[in-house]
Amino acid sequence: MQPETVLIVDDDIVSLSVLENIVKNSYATLTAQSGTAALELIESHCPDLVLLDINLPDMSGFDVIARKREGVFLPFIFMTASTEDKVRAFMEGGVDYITKPFDPDEVVARIETHLRIKRELSELSSDNLKLSEIVQGQTRELITAERHSAFSLMIQGIVHNLRNPLTSAMGAADIVRKNTEKLREKMPYLVEIEKILKYTYIIKKSTMTLNEMIDAMMTRSRQGNRSQLMVQDLSQIIREEMDFLRASSRIKTKLGLVQISPYAIPVRMVSAEIAQVIENLVHNAADALIDSPEGRIDITMEKEGDLVKIAVENNGPSIPEQIKEKIFEPFFTTKHRWNQEGGKDKPIGTGLGLYTSRDIIQRHGGSITLVSGDWGTRFTVSLPLAGTSKAA
Ligand SMILES: Nc1ncnc2c1ncn2[C@@H]1O[C@H](COP(=O)(O)OP(=O)(O)OP(=O)(O)O)[C@@H](O)[C@H]1O
Ligand SMILES: [Mg+2]
Repeated sequence: MQPETVLIVDDDIVSLSVLENIVKNSYATLTAQSGTAALELIESHCPDLVLLDINLPDMSGFDVIARKREGVFLPFIFMTASTEDKVRAFMEGGVDYITKPFDPDEVVARIETHLRIKRELSELSSDNLKLSEIVQGQTRELITAERHSAFSLMIQGIVHNLRNPLTSAMGAADIVRKNTEKLREKMPYLVEIEKILKYTYIIKKSTMTLNEMIDAMMTRSRQGNRSQLMVQDLSQIIREEMDFLRASSRIKTKLGLVQISPYAIPVRMVSAEIAQVIENLVHNAADALIDSPEGRIDITMEKEGDLVKIAVENNGPSIPEQIKEKIFEPFFTTKHRWNQEGGKDKPIGTGLGLYTSRDIIQRHGGSITLVSGDWGTRFTVSLPLAGTSKAA
């Protein structure tokens, strides 16, 4: 460790050298014979303590303290003879005084005392800094935890209230289908009737998926956030989801290559949740292509070791780096409806699609990653194959 440095300021050359001889055995020393020289040395050499004469040729010792840059803790010990000066020394910011003629042991003892106090203060402030970093970190964690628990309470409330209207919608879709089928017997070859049946199928499929999601969420809240995973064929789930998405007017013109394995791919999962993730990713890809007439969404699925990887890729504009960091955060969305003046109006996205998707995939023991560049954007979902060491 470097020895601490004491700056001695006195215009009397004899006093200066006496003090220097006393101090230099224990500390590094600097000397100055005027207030200006002292201030320059304080600025350039950052001494740890100053022994300061009160009467200097260009200014008083008190002026030196007053002109020193603020924000640096530097103890000043005054050299004084009169009682009046001793009192003023403390009032003007000195921490102590020594009197002429100097007693070497006393001088060293006083310097050491004040340097020790300075060291302890500096340790204390670095401890304070560490403590405040810890507190800040914990506060951030608490805020995140609070947001997550408020979010899950909100979801539980919504889920409870969804069941009744959903049951009515499912029942109504069944009635419309049955009646339309009867109508078809009476009036075959009517295109409108086929359309009604097709859209009724979409309503039925959507409401059933919603119902399964509600079941899964209810089970999760009952089981402390653990879903009931079952081994099912992922190929079939994705094929069904693709049929469903193709029927949706929002997507169908944009679906390009769809490469799904013809063989069964067993994965332990809640199928409605996995279907929901794929739907979120495909909807996001379609939204990104809103201004691209040549837009295309490719979906591929392949096995890789103990994993199966599903990639949803679109050739739209790339995602900027600063947005990439945020897109998995709850409520982050860039989807805004544009008002007449061209300013931003209310968002039309909830910003929950990717947040819930990642939560679902992580609960299945998998991961979701993204790459984006000039060519477009690709989200890849990796899930462990059932029966392998990675399986959940
Ligand atoms: N394929 C993509 N290409 C470009 N940006 C994307 C893509 N997928 C997601 N994003 C960006 O990530 C943001 C968050 O997506 P997320 O699905 O979580 O919410 P959202 O789509 O905005 O809202 P919601 O899912 O409720 O409709 C989007 O607003 C968008 O900026
Ligand atoms: Mg989305």
